[in-house]
Amino acid sequence: MKKLLILLLATTSFGSNLPATADTQQYDDQRSSLGLSDSEKAQFLSEMRRMLSSIQGIVAGIGDNNREMIIQSARYSGNRMARATPESVKAKLPQAFKDIGGPTHLMFEELVIRAETDDMTTLTQFTGVLLKQCQTCHALFKAN
Ligand code: HEC
Repeated sequence: MKKLLILLLATTSFGSNLPATADTQQYDDQRSSLGLSDSEKAQFLSEMRRMLSSIQGIVAGIGDNNREMIIQSARYSGNRMARATPESVKAKLPQAFKDIGGPTHLMFEELVIRAETDDMTTLTQFTGVLLKQCQTCHALFKAN
């Protein structure tokens, strides 16, 4: 009961400190549109979800000290994925997008190699740097 009360108090005071929420404030989306069609977007997003799966496998692999799992997971989002992007989508991607996307796939390839020998702390740090690529691009672009 005491716990519930503390939880209630915490929720109420957090609530009052929050800035205006979505229903009271217009959110201005400043990301550039890649102009993908609905079907291109569906395929593009499915690749994105696979990149998230790669990250999941990498983190789980590091936690379990399982090098093979890290390697398999990272390989999936390496250059093979870059090559598999349909030409119609490639043609629409601006240089600024490619400048972030290309190195991201290369970093997955680098992780495949590093996972053979690097210690788990170094691999975690590298994954942290890799995740910054995701963040940078997500801040700049939207699919359509
Ligand atoms: C070069 C640009 C770029 C990079 C790098 C990038 N993304 Fe994305 N990602 C996007 C765009 C654009 C979208 C679509 C956002 C939108 O339309 O709102 C997206 C969407 C996603 C989504 C949502 C998928 C869905 O079904 O809606 C996930 C998950 C995702 N990305 C994961 C990742 C992860 C994990 C990484 C890094 C390992 C990553 N992305 C790197 C551009 C990028």
